Amino acid sequence: MRIIHLIIIGAFVLHLIGVSWVSAFHLDIYEPRVPPKLLEALQDMDNPYPPSLERIESGREIYFGKGLCVTCHNHNGKGVKLPGHTPRDFTDPKWQEIRTDGEMMWVLRNGSPGTQMPVRVGKVISEEEGWNVIHFIRTFSQAD
Ligand code: HEC
Repeated sequence: MRIIHLIIIGAFVLHLIGVSWVSAFHLDIYEPRVPPKLLEALQDMDNPYPPSLERIESGREIYFGKGLCVTCHNHNGKGVKLPGHTPRDFTDPKWQEIRTDGEMMWVLRNGSPGTQMPVRVGKVISEEEGWNVIHFIRTFSQAD
């Protein structure tokens, strides 16, 4: 009986370690989140608004306010655990380098199909507010 219990507890602990390892491991940051056909055009798309303190501040207000971003992406940009696809860690310098503003805008306009990332631009925020919040997301790269 006791040995069986130990085996069960051991398996459970291994399971827990396995689960946390998988969710802490951002295996797929190199995987684009936009349709492959649009990738090149989106990577060439620049943020039409130059970064400024006012725009970053507006982005911060949206992130913590009406955009509801903070509920899933967390106050520090690292993301909260969600069922299915957990948000990426915005403080990961590699992710910041790989992901372009144009790709982020596509996700804000369309959501990320198959995940909990909802449509934001056109629904709860405007295009310009979307670009501002992208400027704010860029500030997480200096958060380490
Ligand atoms: C209900 C939860 C939820 C809310 C609210 C939410 N997101 Fe997301 N977001 C996610 C999830 C989950 C992903 C991961 C999807 C993926 O990797 O395809 C994601 C992905 C993203 C991405 C793409 C990441 C990448 O790797 O390209 C961006 C950019 C983003 N969110 C920005 C925002 C912004 C800005 C807001 C607020 C205006 C917001 N999100 C609100 C859950 C949410």
